Amino acid sequence: GTYYIHQRIQRSKRVILRDEVKHVLEPFELTDEQLRRVMANLNTEMINSLKSDGDIDKNDLGMFPTYVHRGPNGQETGEYLVVDLGGSNFRVSHVVIEGRNRINLKNKIFLIPHSLLLGEGERLFDYIAECLQRFIDDNGLNLNKPVDYTFDLAFTFSFPCNQTSLSQATLVSWTKGFSCTGVVGHDVVLMLQQAIDRRKSLKIQVVALVNDTVGTLMACSSIYRDCKVGVILGTGTNACYFENIENVPKWTGVRNQTTKQVVINTEWGALGKHACLDFIRTSIDRELDESSLTPNQQVFEKMISALYLGEIVRLIIVDLVQRSILLPGRMHKSPSLGRDYNIFLSLRGSFYAKHVDDIECDTTEDLSVTSLILTSIGIQEPSYDDCYIIREVCKTVSLRAARLAAAAIAVLVNRVNLPSVTVGIDGTLFRHHGKFKKNLTRTLSRLVPRTHRLVLSEDGSSKGSALVAAVHRYTNEIATS
Ligand code: GLC
Repeated sequence: GTYYIHQRIQRSKRVILRDEVKHVLEPFELTDEQLRRVMANLNTEMINSLKSDGDIDKNDLGMFPTYVHRGPNGQETGEYLVVDLGGSNFRVSHVVIEGRNRINLKNKIFLIPHSLLLGEGERLFDYIAECLQRFIDDNGLNLNKPVDYTFDLAFTFSFPCNQTSLSQATLVSWTKGFSCTGVVGHDVVLMLQQAIDRRKSLKIQVVALVNDTVGTLMACSSIYRDCKVGVILGTGTNACYFENIENVPKWTGVRNQTTKQVVINTEWGALGKHACLDFIRTSIDRELDESSLTPNQQVFEKMISALYLGEIVRLIIVDLVQRSILLPGRMHKSPSLGRDYNIFLSLRGSFYAKHVDDIECDTTEDLSVTSLILTSIGIQEPSYDDCYIIREVCKTVSLRAARLAAAAIAVLVNRVNLPSVTVGIDGTLFRHHGKFKKNLTRTLSRLVPRTHRLVLSEDGSSKGSALVAAVHRYTNEIATS
């Protein structure tokens, strides 16, 4: 008798608990109607920002013309160095292009000391030049080369830049975890070139600045001719696409037969700067924003990308603990036991997107994977209910991110306006988070009836940047021959 009564009480407690959790998570659940409103707002912002009086203080989006006018045609060749700064890794690559789909790539990841991300800009560029030197020496790239041989280098720099040519680019603002002084408002190509030139033994010319989305697009369009959109879903999120120049009133470069289109770097992560996403923003989103390096910027990115997903989950967990829904009665344990919770609960950034993914994918009956992860980050002895609730939180936050990303991609697929479109995508979320990708694909199919496919663009930001440099070289050679 008493056993069953106990069970019944447990069960009804659980029902109440789950109702309370539902209530907290409700604002994170987006309807298709809300997604369509996000689409409409993004589209409006895109059009406004392409206008000739496009003003980054007035409009949400950069919509930067990139001076890339076409994809590779298979005839481009050459040897290039690529520096890739701004993703989850800092990389130096050596890329040899021998013709269509024959691209050889060798690269090395270098660690950037955290202090360099927040220190003086010039030191960051000096460090990059030092890594280039090490890379060239370690791989013997200078062997069998004429003494005065100069490498062409493409600079993958994944931040909003105002370009005035392929190799002139002023940094508009830092995003993600970077915040060096003395770089915003400066030409980053020039800064890198000067750092290289300070090392007398380095002979390198920086020939192109390339956003990672553009690299992704180029790498993918060398394989799929209908690839017109490049997307990054990683540490940050952003996209670029081929736009007809006649739709870009603010374009001030040449307009002729060979430059009918230009790739536009949308910087869609900035959507929401002027409140157009307020109808879906939650108090947690605001809290995250206020304590970030870039308050009131990258509002859309902060709801989607890997740099922020874990933190959103962590803030919801803190909220649930404060409401005594999670870890009930466990916050006031003796310091020796309770201290670890407090570390987790008070430490910004202690929960990663990787955790969100692993927990969301936990299909063990007793949620042992979740339990292990929680223990590893300092939540000791989580109950089954704790694990269950936290998994719900992870699922909800990740689903929201995937659905928002789908809405944004839908806008570009519609805009490109071809019978079928391939979207090249790279980034950790798309690459490694299986659930995220599935949710993204599913939502996108509902939002756009047009034929489309999503393709992983392997090594896009290195290969693709080299391709930008190669297309540029080829175009110049044709012009002068
Ligand atoms: C941020 C940057 C953008 C980049 C994206 C993905 O949104 O501002 O330039 O493409 O992250 O790395």
